[in-house]
Amino acid sequence: MEKENIYILGIESSCDDTSAAILCNTKILSNVVADQKIHAEYGGVVPELASRAHQQNIVPVVHQAIEKAGITKAQLSAVAFTRGPGLMGSLLVGTSFAKSLAYGFDVPLIDVNHMQAHILAHFIEEDGHKTPPFPFLAMTISGGHTQIVKVNNFFDMEVIGETIDDAVGEAYDKSGKILGLGYPAGPEIDRRAQLGNPKAYQFTKPKVEGLNFSFSGLKTNILYFIQREVKLNPNFIEDHLNDICASIQYTIIGILMAKLKLAVKQTGINHIAIGGGVSANSGIRTALQNAEQKFGWTSYIPKFEYTTDNAAMIAIVGYLKYLNRDFSDFDVMATARLKI
Ligand code: KG4
Ligand code: ZN
Repeated sequence: MEKENIYILGIESSCDDTSAAILCNTKILSNVVADQKIHAEYGGVVPELASRAHQQNIVPVVHQAIEKAGITKAQLSAVAFTRGPGLMGSLLVGTSFAKSLAYGFDVPLIDVNHMQAHILAHFIEEDGHKTPPFPFLAMTISGGHTQIVKVNNFFDMEVIGETIDDAVGEAYDKSGKILGLGYPAGPEIDRRAQLGNPKAYQFTKPKVEGLNFSFSGLKTNILYFIQREVKLNPNFIEDHLNDICASIQYTIIGILMAKLKLAVKQTGINHIAIGGGVSANSGIRTALQNAEQKFGWTSYIPKFEYTTDNAAMIAIVGYLKYLNRDFSDFDVMATARLKI
């Protein structure tokens, strides 16, 4: 007998992207993301504006995802949504909407941890993408998080290292602010870094024990360096922007790779997956590819579409939980500080 197809609707609204995706078993049929341009004017995400934009976007985004997938609402097997971590107001929009839909359609509701989803995005079936074997190490690098996670199984994960202050994406965005770049600055610093000299300037690396990270000192180091140089040459930033970006990127990638090396040494695991917005970065992608030859690691780099926040990754976790019949009660609460 042929197995019945399972269709999961995933909904993501933890920060400033409203996203909905439809998954058929492990394959994505649609993944619609509405990002919120409004925050660029303020140089960072404004929580109140994010919740309002989610309210406006959620129905059209879900509608589009279903239409693009070419299925009917009646075919949905379950509704999965991001429970946390994230901004409370943003999470509440997706949570309430998912509950109403699941109740209305009389299908199971499945709550998803956003950080687990960044990791499990690797199990979305894609041509040419290999899935990591258990156990593997996952480094989640985004605007809100920097963690190294030992992934023993789909839902057996241990955080073995994390940032004690800023996330790596924040280090990019705050450096960008100092340089007068728009928000978020990560992609632009990355683009310019590829045109500059990575060894033009040296920034201090934080001294943090073990597998934890710290990025706030780097930001201060860059600020003082720029202030000093601009005093000598008011056009210093414009004259050397690509070299500054390349040097910042070189420092950040060096910090990430040093911790990964230590994690491999401590755990004996050399299958390394990355996830989160900063995994779109060309520097970390190249460093991990080089590490395959250099250290014998196997690296797993997500398709570009699944790096920044998206609902496809929520839907795949929904599917995995669906197989376990791991459903949520309708009184489940959005949880801003949800742990892995
Ligand atoms: O995962 P994400 O979309 O949202 C959070 O959960 O935070 O990550 C957004 C972060 C921002 O800090 C952005 O600057 C950074 O990812 N980012 C990058 C690149 N693309 C996005 N950072 C460095 N290089 C990139 N290419
Ligand atoms: Zn994220």
